[in-house]
Amino acid sequence: MSKVLVSDTIDQAGIDILSQVATVDVKTGLKPAELIEIIGDYDALMIRSGTRVTQEIIEAGTQLKIIGRAGVGVDNVDVPAATRRGIVVVNSPEGNTIAAAEHALAMMLALSRHIPDANASVKRGAWDRNSFVGAEVYKKTLGIVGLGKIGSHVASVAKAMGMKLLAYDPFISTERAEQIGCQLVELDLLFQQADYITLHIPKTSETTHLINAVTLGKMKPTARIINCARGGIIEETALAAAVKAGKIGGAALDVFESEPLGESDLRSLGKEVILTPHLGASTTEAQVNVAIDVAEQIRDVLLGLPARSA
Ligand code: NAD
Ligand code: MLT
Repeated sequence: MSKVLVSDTIDQAGIDILSQVATVDVKTGLKPAELIEIIGDYDALMIRSGTRVTQEIIEAGTQLKIIGRAGVGVDNVDVPAATRRGIVVVNSPEGNTIAAAEHALAMMLALSRHIPDANASVKRGAWDRNSFVGAEVYKKTLGIVGLGKIGSHVASVAKAMGMKLLAYDPFISTERAEQIGCQLVELDLLFQQADYITLHIPKTSETTHLINAVTLGKMKPTARIINCARGGIIEETALAAAVKAGKIGGAALDVFESEPLGESDLRSLGKEVILTPHLGASTTEAQVNVAIDVAEQIRDVLLGLPARSA
């Protein structure tokens, strides 16, 4: 019987599917050296974002046929190294779209109404209504960078809340943007006009530090930025300095240049900054979706059927 190693926490629905065709070992929190030591016994590896699948791990996985990433981003897998060894890498491109979009929208509203800090103050025993006067999103301009699956869902909900929508995405047509209710514009115009800017792009060489001291300088001093996409798209030291200097209204971040977030200027900022620990896909529904989606693909490959690669 085939053997599957699950090295991050995955919903039981996925484990049940894998168990139909393989012996499944769930071993989370392994150090890289521990993973290297045991990976040679396995035909498949199923991960979330916690396991970094390096070239060394791939080379030690002499029996590996498939690596399944229960989520969208395969940036924690050395895909070229896997491809060289003939190992298929699969993901779940749509399983957590709604979860991530709703997290971005929740961040936008929480930032506008200071919900995390107001909640903390009531729990401390205070009743301070003056410090938490917020702003409405109705009739404000939302700039969406990346109008793919998540960006499009954010657009449709934001439109229903009465927001004006600008979008920047060099890979989609004006017609497609208009269908979703967005005006496609150049990035500089989006930066200049948006009251809220939400990022829904992959991290690539082009998007790394897209938000930096120069681009922050183009935004309104009241603008608020939301990043539920990938850490490193925002240069965090520049963002913290801009918030501190009042050059930008605030930010809500779910993803960071280095995760878990260590020492960071962002942590000492006040109600203008909200930080969550990479929770975009952390809903019960999304975790069931991605676990089933990826487990089915692993099962198929172990049965000798073709896979859809990431
Ligand atoms: P997607 O591929 O459907 O959409 C990405 C869009 O970005 C595409 O339309 C593409 O044309 C556009 N794009 C690419 N390069 C661009 C650039 N330089 N400038 C502007 N647009 C560009 O992806 P998605 O499923 O919508 O995911 C978006 C992001 O969210 C990804 O980075 C993904 O990893 C991340 N994500 C995060 C979480 C989380 O837990 N926080 C959960 C799911 C997805
Ligand atoms: C993803 O790429 O799907 C997200 O970052 C969520 C996750 O951590 O799995």
